[in-house]
Amino acid sequence: MPPKSVWRLSAQNLSRVYQCGSGRVKALDDVSLDINKGEFIAVTGRSGSGKTTLINMLAGLDRASEGTIQTADGTKINKLDEEELARWRGRNVGIVFQFYQLLPSLTVLENTLLPMDLCGVHPKVGRRDHAMSLLNDLGINEHASKLPRDLSGGQQQRAAIARALVNDPDVVFADEPTGNLDSTTAMAVMELFAAQAAKGKAVIMVTHDLDLAPYFSRIITLGDGRIVAEKAKAA
Ligand SMILES: Nc1ncnc2c1ncn2[C@@H]1O[C@H](COP(=O)(O)OP(=O)(O)O)[C@@H](O)[C@H]1O
Ligand SMILES: [Mg+2]
Repeated sequence: MPPKSVWRLSAQNLSRVYQCGSGRVKALDDVSLDINKGEFIAVTGRSGSGKTTLINMLAGLDRASEGTIQTADGTKINKLDEEELARWRGRNVGIVFQFYQLLPSLTVLENTLLPMDLCGVHPKVGRRDHAMSLLNDLGINEHASKLPRDLSGGQQQRAAIARALVNDPDVVFADEPTGNLDSTTAMAVMELFAAQAAKGKAVIMVTHDLDLAPYFSRIITLGDGRIVAEKAKAA
């Protein structure tokens, strides 16, 4: 079984080629990147520059065509089979999708409980309380028994964030998580992610919003599938 700890994710020479009707698209082209504990990283760049592809590779949602992704304990996640990879994701990674991807027939609470039930890290007793306390932190505890469609976009996004954090992952990936939020809710989400990083988690977030720059310890800019700029915050 892949071990729990991801102190560092190290991606080397990642490429991803998509085959489609009209030919080949190199969505990611020889990207190398280390993600360390406590970092809050922004990934930015134009539409089509490869941001989602990069996040999906690093989170183990999709496989690189070339290159390796290795954790500090030596696990090469691109060498894991589907089942091992799913287990690795469940234990180590939280993912916030751009359009939430909550399960529509489950309540907010049930959506939040699902990763704990699938992964089994948390003891059964206490799962509900843990999920509710997270929903409370996110200010949506009153909506716990509602279906996603009865929530606003911002509330659904917060439910998706609760689901991503519920297994206490070492790394959180978020694809434009504030894109559909009003500025007050966006700030609350940023504070929550910053608190995760301060706790020693790593957070990697795709964003176009340059106003958020002060939050990030590092900003990576992609262009045509390559890293074209990388800027670390002065210590
Ligand atoms: N499933 C796919 N099949 C074919 N091409 C894709 C697929 N996903 C992404 N691409 C292409 O790869 C490039 C990068 O896409 P993406 O990672 O979604 O960029 P971004 O998130 O920066 O907008 C784009 O040219 C896009 O059209
Ligand atoms: Mg994208």
